[in-house]
This record gives sequence, structure tokens and C-alpha cells, in this order.
Amino acid sequence: MNTSWDQVNEQILACRNCPLCEHIHNKVPGQGDPEAALMFIGEGPGQDEDLQGLAFVGRAGQLLTKMIAAMGMTRDEVFICNIVKCRPPMNRVPEPEEAAACMPYLRQQFALVRPKVVVLLGATAARYILGDHIRITRDRGTFVYKKGVWFMPTYHPSALLRDESKKKDAWHDLQQVMAKLKEISDEGSPAETV
Ligand code: URA
Repeated sequence: MNTSWDQVNEQILACRNCPLCEHIHNKVPGQGDPEAALMFIGEGPGQDEDLQGLAFVGRAGQLLTKMIAAMGMTRDEVFICNIVKCRPPMNRVPEPEEAAACMPYLRQQFALVRPKVVVLLGATAARYILGDHIRITRDRGTFVYKKGVWFMPTYHPSALLRDESKKKDAWHDLQQVMAKLKEISDEGSPAETV
């Protein structure tokens, strides 16, 4: 069945599949270009996101906005969302059952956006998407190609705020993402005729 954006958002807003929704102010479905070639997936909403109902709008989000700008894009040109759409209490890592309960929404978002490249922000996003074997310090910076999509695990912006020395590696990862997007769009454009 093809689910529309309105249907996914309605389902998220009505969702009571796990206990995370019991203490939140707002669901945070995610936002951006519904046909973006590039998607960012974080862990889960924090306090600012919970209050505004928007993904990545707090301190980490402001850094993410700068990172996207450094890539030559705006937030409106990409799609930004999280593994879980409700803020975990005290910003703890979402439990496997919570991530599993929310995964159908991410799958539906994926099916609608059909991104070409996905940046997995931090260990939680990388492990829930690519598997438990992922170690972010070891595996960041290396693309994983899965079902026609290029996944790039990198540091979460919160990790970059805690430890600025990681920024150089994160920028290296994002440069690879830019190169991959260019490569894909060059492949897609018609051959030049002289
Ligand atoms: N951290 C996340 O993982 N997601 C957000 O939306 C905000 C902070």
C-alpha cells in the first residue's frame, strides 16, 4: 500500500505503540524536502525538539544546520528525522522495543522520500539502521550500500559539541557525502551532445 505524507504524519501523531508518548509535549515526525536526495537520521528528539515538534532545532540542531550549510545546502533541501519520534525521558538512548515500535514510520518516510544518500548521525541511528555490529568510531566515514541507498555513519552533532576534535573527521565524512551526491546526479544527467 502506498501511504501518503498526511497518512504517515497522522499515524505518528496518533501513535501509542510504546510508552515514550506518555510524557511528551509534541511528536516530532521530521521535516524537510519530501523528495530530498539526502536524508539525515538522528537518535530522538531532545527538549527543544519536544517543545517545538521539530527535529534538530536545539544546540545540536543548530550545529547540524551549519554542517548542512557547509555542504552548500539548506535544511529545506534535505529531509531530517529521527529513529524515534517521541523524546525519550532525560534524553536517554531509545530502547530496542521503542525503536522497533517507531521503525514502521521511518520505513514509510523512507519509501516516500526515496533518498539516494542517508547520513546516520551517531551510534544509535547507525546501529538501529545498519545493525548492532556498528561501532561509530571505527565505522564512521565508510559508506554502506544497502538496497540502492548509500548510508554514511558519522558522529552525532552532540558528540561534536562535546569534543571539537571530532569535527575534522565529521567534515571528511560529509565531503564524501557531497561527492557521492554529485556522482549520482552526474550519472543521472543525460550524456552531453556536442
Ligand atoms: N538529537 C537528535 O538525535 N535528534 C534531534 O532531533 C535533536 C537532537
